[in-house]
Amino acid sequence: MATQAFIGIDVGTSSIKAIVVSAAGAVLSGGEAPLTVSVPEAGWAEQTPEDWWQGTVSAVNAAVAGLDSSVEIKAISLSGQMHSLVALDRERRVIRPAILWNDVRTSEQCAFIRNRVGDHKLRQLCGNPAVEGFTATKLLWMRQHEPANFERLRKFVLAKDYVRFRMTGELATEPSDASGTLLFDIVRGDWSAEMCALLELDSAILPPLVGSSAIAGTVTADGARQLGVAAGTPVAGGGADNACAATGSGVVSPGTLLVTIGTSGAVVAPISRPATDPAMRIHSMAHAAPALWYLMGVVLSAGAALAWWKNSLAGEANGPGFDELVEAASKVPPGSAGLTLLPYLTGERTPHADAVARGVFAGLHAGHSRAHMTRSVLEGVSFALRDSLELMKPLDVSPESAVAVGGGARSGAWLQIMADILGVPLKTVGPGEGAPLGAAMLAAVGAGSFDTVADAGAAWLTTRGQTDPDPGKAAVYAESYERYRSLYVALREWFAAGVGR
Ligand code: XUL
Repeated sequence: MATQAFIGIDVGTSSIKAIVVSAAGAVLSGGEAPLTVSVPEAGWAEQTPEDWWQGTVSAVNAAVAGLDSSVEIKAISLSGQMHSLVALDRERRVIRPAILWNDVRTSEQCAFIRNRVGDHKLRQLCGNPAVEGFTATKLLWMRQHEPANFERLRKFVLAKDYVRFRMTGELATEPSDASGTLLFDIVRGDWSAEMCALLELDSAILPPLVGSSAIAGTVTADGARQLGVAAGTPVAGGGADNACAATGSGVVSPGTLLVTIGTSGAVVAPISRPATDPAMRIHSMAHAAPALWYLMGVVLSAGAALAWWKNSLAGEANGPGFDELVEAASKVPPGSAGLTLLPYLTGERTPHADAVARGVFAGLHAGHSRAHMTRSVLEGVSFALRDSLELMKPLDVSPESAVAVGGGARSGAWLQIMADILGVPLKTVGPGEGAPLGAAMLAAVGAGSFDTVADAGAAWLTTRGQTDPDPGKAAVYAESYERYRSLYVALREWFAAGVGR
């Protein structure tokens, strides 16, 4: 008898991941293809969309290669890095390398949008602030700095939409990724003609919208030959990586919370009605399920801060591995003996939206060791995530527990620090693939195997572990958190003056 299965693909920043999941929720196989980020100038980050496609081809081939012949792929879907601009010409050719979510070249365009639209209207029209990550700022940068390229622009899409286009020949995006463009009205669930008019952008460049679990196209004969799947396989719209990571972790109803510790970090809280932080320090996005939204805080350097510490300073390539470093740090008392890290290595998004903020170790004294410094990295990233959670509390977010995903969630010691600092129990769930699993759920709903992603989650997910906060550490962390918060306030003007750049 045939085993029905779904492919979930995540178009990430450091790799493309593909998994094959059976209708019963077993991960049957997987494949991964690494990606590199090009940094043509300080603060820039670019990738070539062709590399996403080639990475997808190799990850999907690896995933389907070892499958039993009884496995029948019913549908495919995609998750992807948010905000990254793919500019296409009349023939739907890529005009220039994609400008990524963590590229901060667009501060001038952000100021232009704030002046032109005003924060009040921005909040009303799209629920989000003009920050460097968001796609519209990148379109305006292209118009100003690359007029010949901009002249050729006919459509833009986000990362996973480009990969879906290569599979199916259909161009589209869906609400969860559209939410990260600054051109989408999250309340009405449609493009904002008014934002386009205010920014003098032709609305013809906006791709059509499909639902995240709606079938957006089918795999073409050429796509099928390259991917190693059957032509005609349905491909569902998919979602933004944070929306898919939440979906794949069962975080699809108010009262649940997701904490992601990947390259970037995120705190994601589903809400049943669109809500916005009055100062827009928190993002408001459409979720990958209909009539659901989420609030999100984004820490630009989370796992990236630990990777930087390990690879650049704590011993480079031949030095200790992550496990060894974290193990030594777990022996240091909470609070890192007065040492504080601001993890703003590439500026910060939440809560400060400050592209020129920088990383800082503060309070070093002669008694500190490498283990103290590693611990202050783990604590600093956790405090940064707590900043997001604190901003959500006045918006009625009071979760009893959270699900942790991403590379950082594989470290028991870091999970303990994070649970102590956030003050909520952190669960890990299986099969635990986060974003690509969420994409596979969207494919399963698209194929009619489940009515909703919540039903898919109920059938597929189990709790694997739980890390409870230690009440005995609450007082010391409360003090360290205040120290952490006061540090940025003390340095804000110093960053703004460009000291150290
Ligand atoms: C979210 C964001 C990042 C990327 C990472 O706003 O910029 O989390 O989605 O892929």
